[in-house]
Amino acid sequence: MYNLIDGKKLAQEMREEIRLGVEEFTKKNGREIGLAVVLVGQDPASQVYVRNKIKACAEVGIKSYAKYLSAESTQAEVEGLVKELSSDKNIDGILVQLPLPKHLDADKILRLIPTDKDVDGFSEENTGKLSMNEDCLVACTPNGVMKMLERYGIEIKGKKAVVIGRSNIVGKPMAMLLLNADATVTVCHSKTRDLKEECLRADILVSAIGKSKFVTADMVKEGAVVIDVGMNRDENGKLCGDVDFENVKDKCSYITPVPGGVGPMTITMLMYNTLQSALRRKI
Ligand code: GUN
Repeated sequence: MYNLIDGKKLAQEMREEIRLGVEEFTKKNGREIGLAVVLVGQDPASQVYVRNKIKACAEVGIKSYAKYLSAESTQAEVEGLVKELSSDKNIDGILVQLPLPKHLDADKILRLIPTDKDVDGFSEENTGKLSMNEDCLVACTPNGVMKMLERYGIEIKGKKAVVIGRSNIVGKPMAMLLLNADATVTVCHSKTRDLKEECLRADILVSAIGKSKFVTADMVKEGAVVIDVGMNRDENGKLCGDVDFENVKDKCSYITPVPGGVGPMTITMLMYNTLQSALRRKI
């Protein structure tokens, strides 16, 4: 019988803890914690994500600064805004929602975010520190997965972990976090030979590739922990993950659902990182 990892419940519990932390910070320092969220253009999925981030801020007592720019904004305009936010003492975290419109140089814009306000954990300094197992701001989705494993008492040390996907946002930081927690880590991707064989060795299998029902029962070892980071739409337009949940669940010791698994943890970790950022800045 499998155990369901309830990301929604865990996210709610963590948001309450974060709310208390924010309250204490505000009392002690006589100022609010601020998070700036920059959205360029009108991508519908990004609009939903940004709305949810603003809502989460209100829930935990963080002051949000929503900055909406038109899809036609120039590189100089976006850079100007990020620079302005960077030097604003009231702002502890800056998030530029991705993807940016194609005519903009996203890397150049992201590089303007100071390391101590990089609540997405995407900067070279934060990713470098993560790979050296030093204290830093960690990308929200993989950090949320680690919190799930931790809270459900799932041991990582010495376990074989397989991560499917090697993106800078999820796959790579996920692999680093698992390695830092003493797992033996394999990262699989589109050029991997014998993906099924690799996955079958996993005690902990994390899928982050964005393909509906990609992970099937024949790829999962009996008793494995399966974490589904996918956010896809199936043929009927219904939200689904990378894992064929119905097919795979009975082989698992633990499994995350979609929706209600990793998703709710991501924004919660953004709130967590913003609080961490404020505590570190001590202004
Ligand atoms: N777009 C999709 N996921 C993310 C994320 O984690 N952060 C940002 N900034 N944009 C995203």
